[in-house]
Amino acid sequence: MRNRVAVLHGVNLGALDRRPAAVYGSLTFSQLEQRIERYARELGLGVHLFQTDFEGEYVQELHKAPDYADGLILNPGAWTHYAWALRDALEVAGLPAVEVHLSDVDNREAFRRVSVLEGVCIARVAGKGPDGYRDALVHLKEAFTA
Ligand code: DQA
Repeated sequence: MRNRVAVLHGVNLGALDRRPAAVYGSLTFSQLEQRIERYARELGLGVHLFQTDFEGEYVQELHKAPDYADGLILNPGAWTHYAWALRDALEVAGLPAVEVHLSDVDNREAFRRVSVLEGVCIARVAGKGPDGYRDALVHLKEAFTA
């Protein structure tokens, strides 16, 4: 049975509590990760949590992910908008993935409307804050049982 999810956070998300609360809310990054763990537990899924500020490390984690996960939740931060190597690395991983953003990226600056992950994820959740991760886990759970 597939039930293992890797949640991969990218650049600047580790400093969540020092970013504008009006955009990103008031949770610390570790509180966000605890919230994701709780959602996963409630849904009967296992989670592996990872964050880095280094793009190459993110790519390497995507390469390794099939060894320990059945699906992915990706919030690459600003890399989402320009780091095309992430799209290629997701193709290497070959796992179902959901793109998540805490903020409503489509209604902010124009550069945030581009996503390198467009068309290679099974779903995209943006602007729902921490609850968006719950939606993403539900999407993956459905994909695992399909
Ligand atoms: C973000 C949105 C990105 O545009 C931004 O660069 C981030 C966070 C989000 O979760 O809303 O770092 O991915």
